[in-house]
Amino acid sequence: MTTTLPASAEAAPGPLAFPPDFRWGVATASYQIEGAAAEDGRTPSIWDTFSRVPGAVVGGDTGDVACDHYHRMADDVRLMAGLGVGWYRFSVAWPRVRPDGGAPNPAGIGFYDRLVDELLTHDVSPWLTLYHWDLPQALEDAGGWTVRDTADRFVEYAVTLHEALGDRVPVWTTLNEPWCSAFLGYTSGRHAPGRQEGAAGLRAAHHLLLAHGLAATELRARGADTLGVTLNFTVADPADPEDPADVDAARRVDALHNRMFLEPIRHGEYPADLLADTEHLGWTEVVRDGDLAAISATPIDVLGVNYYHGDSVSARPAADPGGPSPFPGLDRLSMPLRDLPRTAMGWEVQPEGLTRLLLRLHDEHPGLPLVVTENGAAYDDEVGPDGEVDDPERLAYLDAHLRAVHAARAGGADVRGYFAWSFLDNFEWAEGYAKRFGIVHVDYDTQVRTPKSSARWFSDVARTGRLPDRSQ
Ligand code: FCB
Repeated sequence: MTTTLPASAEAAPGPLAFPPDFRWGVATASYQIEGAAAEDGRTPSIWDTFSRVPGAVVGGDTGDVACDHYHRMADDVRLMAGLGVGWYRFSVAWPRVRPDGGAPNPAGIGFYDRLVDELLTHDVSPWLTLYHWDLPQALEDAGGWTVRDTADRFVEYAVTLHEALGDRVPVWTTLNEPWCSAFLGYTSGRHAPGRQEGAAGLRAAHHLLLAHGLAATELRARGADTLGVTLNFTVADPADPEDPADVDAARRVDALHNRMFLEPIRHGEYPADLLADTEHLGWTEVVRDGDLAAISATPIDVLGVNYYHGDSVSARPAADPGGPSPFPGLDRLSMPLRDLPRTAMGWEVQPEGLTRLLLRLHDEHPGLPLVVTENGAAYDDEVGPDGEVDDPERLAYLDAHLRAVHAARAGGADVRGYFAWSFLDNFEWAEGYAKRFGIVHVDYDTQVRTPKSSARWFSDVARTGRLPDRSQ
């Protein structure tokens, strides 16, 4: 699929205005910031377990303390409100709300109850994500996402939370990036629970999608207003567009990364090419009659789009693949780096990919409102002698991607909001605390928060709805 860029995508550096109702927000996730891993009845999640596996996380870091947000929530909300953002996208820790995936835990629910009230008191609207990767370990011990029962437990958890917060939370997102949960969790093993089986990843993907569909239907029946899911898309370009093998590898990456998740949710079917590519893995035995109808039964009201970079895809194997491929059945693959700047994660800075992605989603799913629910960059920030953190590269990254969003809107894409990832520096999964994505710096020794220069810039953008001139 190629989408031609409109001329306006040549991101002009001048001032740009977004409409007054455009939503501006910041995003976080429970395990990455909360800490308090064993408090008020919370039981371990798969990340508590996985982070203790030697070599799984850089520095042996865990989320035991993280940003200690559990104890600093009110101050954090004040800080966020001071930035002038209208929305906060956060996730809920399933093992706080239903420890071990079992009975509801009033003390754990109470934390989110207070968080939501605190946000509303400060005129920040809550955008809630039910699942941002912290599956109760007890459910993983029973098979995790590779078994159907986990989808049923997810629905119970969703309903418990909706009963507690449904009167105050306007937007309910079922899953964050099921591609990562399924394929980094069960196929490449880079993420919790660290399993390395191609078919397990595909089964997990199916049960995640089922969990989405079943929960969406229950939440809608209970009056949830705006329902969505957040997917992480890539823009898969063949490394050599003239080489049919590269073109085919890019197609397969597109199927596994993008279409495998959106097509069932929107149209109740898996892409035919994906089914053909993965048939030999025998995963579809978990797909029961009625599942695909259940996955698509309740239409989403908004699609959350997480974008960091696209990929150049080659059918040539990588010299050093650095572990199993996260694409089930697709081992002969590499993603050669292009001549693009890179962030501290080594990720390419490719803002035009975001324009193309949003235009493609608009073309293929007309009428579906889009919100960029994550976009941002890690850089090696340092606190200056004056105590300030100057991060011009992150500021430039955010600016370039917001220009890319603006260009997509100019081309007709119905993009209604943008959340910067992340509000705070935090536990960056397998990278531990070594990679900083925050617009607010966190000193992990003292837990002091210091807004970076990108936070001050983003605050002005959110307040005015305008990108300032970058031409000088
Ligand atoms: C996304 C995750 C988020 C964060 C960013 C950098 O894949 O959803 O938690 O780690 O990447």
